[in-house]
Amino acid sequence: MKRVAVMTSGGDAPGMNAAIRAVVRAGLEYGVEVYGIRQAYTGLLAGDIELLTSREVSGILQRGGTILQTARNEEFKTRQGQQRGLRRLNERGIEGLVVIGGDGSLRGAMALHNLGIPVVGIPGSIDNDIWGTNMSIGVDTALNIILDSLDRIRDTATSHQRAFLIEVMGRNCGYLALMSGILGGAEIVVTPEKATSMDEVAAALEDSYVRGKTHAVAVIAEGAPFTTSELAAYLDKKESVGFEIRLSILGHIQRGGSPTAFDRLLASRMGVRALEALQEGQSGVMVGLQGREIKTVSLEEVTTKTRQINESFYELARILSR
Ligand code: ADP
Ligand code: F6P
Repeated sequence: MKRVAVMTSGGDAPGMNAAIRAVVRAGLEYGVEVYGIRQAYTGLLAGDIELLTSREVSGILQRGGTILQTARNEEFKTRQGQQRGLRRLNERGIEGLVVIGGDGSLRGAMALHNLGIPVVGIPGSIDNDIWGTNMSIGVDTALNIILDSLDRIRDTATSHQRAFLIEVMGRNCGYLALMSGILGGAEIVVTPEKATSMDEVAAALEDSYVRGKTHAVAVIAEGAPFTTSELAAYLDKKESVGFEIRLSILGHIQRGGSPTAFDRLLASRMGVRALEALQEGQSGVMVGLQGREIKTVSLEEVTTKTRQINESFYELARILSR
């Protein structure tokens, strides 16, 4: 294989640039030209594909976002769109593709693999909802940003004896909420996966008030059974909670910023391994962190299985919140 392409797709994640750089530098090692596809499947359909030189990926290791930009594209979900994408790759003599993105993007990668072009995926999403890898690129950075925000909010919450409802990202996956709840010392965590009522949140906050805590924190995932605003309105009416209620939606701050050491290392290892896998003739696979090793796992499994949160973390969160 002499010519491969790389794209970043779906929600951006800190560390995507480190992965692009690693693919390009591994290409230099193995004598493979690496082309960058701008704006994911949208750029692929438009033929927006340019050679990436080693210098073009200089100085991007520490940068958040993605220099190739990203996009969401409905047309690529159709068979005709995918065939057009394949034609664009063939026109440019591209023999293999690396797709860095979330589970949707990896479904797109799988579709191209099924049409016959070698494809390797790299898991990039702050949600940590991708099956087949312990961690996806960007998760560690997002978690650290959330923790930094929680620590700051705690300062003002204590000063005013308030309870804060903090909404974190995760439409379908509560990993960020649960882990930041444990590591940030939350009183209660609400995730999309586990049924929790507004009454249970009220009880947890009230309990901390009664036990003399100077403040309380509830971490609510974006995809929780109720919105943070609904919860705030509900708690405001319940005088028994004790604390005055404030809410804070962290939003896209969680997706920006320089990747942590962990994410730089993960992305660098995955980028090199993805290029190597293509060179070995592998296709229809994703590189994933399993134990301490970067291994390949079939995209068929990745796109059909759902990554579950380790149940014991819920118990850990409960025990530590006393
Ligand atoms: P993420 O990759 O972060 O999960 P999305 O789910 O929005 O983000 O997917 C990103 C893009 O991947 C979509 O806009 C679409 O172009 C492509 N994609 C998603 N699902 C499929 C699918 N089933 N078949 C082909 N392409 C898909
Ligand atoms: O997949 C990552 C993620 O940040 C989710 O947690 C969130 O629901 C979604 O992307 C928001 O994406 P956007 O604002 O780009 O539509």
